[in-house]
Amino acid sequence: VERKATNVHWHEGDVTREDRASILGHKGVTLWFTGLSGSGKSTIAVAVEKALAARGVLSYRLDGDNIRLGINSNLGFSAEDRKENIRRVGEISKLFADSGVVVLSSFISPYREDREMVRRMHEEGDLPYLEVFVDCALEEAESRDPKGLYKKARAGEIRGFTGIDDPYEAPLSPELHLRTDRMSLEEEVETVISSLQARGIIA
Ligand code: PPS
Repeated sequence: VERKATNVHWHEGDVTREDRASILGHKGVTLWFTGLSGSGKSTIAVAVEKALAARGVLSYRLDGDNIRLGINSNLGFSAEDRKENIRRVGEISKLFADSGVVVLSSFISPYREDREMVRRMHEEGDLPYLEVFVDCALEEAESRDPKGLYKKARAGEIRGFTGIDDPYEAPLSPELHLRTDRMSLEEEVETVISSLQARGIIA
């Protein structure tokens, strides 16, 4: 991405990431939930947030619909706008993760290249990053249709809808793979929590 501002420099503080982790009692991380509309990304993030809160772990959800009502209200659903959406929320996730929070980012993020950009951002910042593939057959997501958007897309009232007339590039090697048409919500939450424990991010 082209940088327009020149002569800018990162300013270090006196409180380190390790200091923040010891205040909170856990490390920061970004969990990146990717999948079709209606696959269950937001539902899982909400349930994980609750389970983490019960363990005294501070998490925060970033969600496509919510973010697009605020900071990204000037972006639509062209490939270019989706990329900018993902770039910005990737940077926001990185800041939150650096602050020590367990970030639960739920975005369709249909393009592999855009997700790899977010992974690289985190690697460059030496921050843990887990891609979570929220995998659900299109037929199943379409039959759920919680917002009636698939129906509109099929009727031609929405153009460029992911899975209908816009692509979704499934992850090739996600850290976690949740089959939401086969697993229960409890199993999914348990899978996420135990992988954070196994990686030493939370106790
Ligand atoms: S992306 O592709 O990652 O930039 O999308 P995201 O920010 O996650 O926003 C997806 C939500 O926007 C609604 N919506 C659409 N989705 C896909 N394609 C088109 N054309 C579209 N138009 C509106 C939809 O409610 C998505 O929400 P979820 O929660 O994924 O169902």
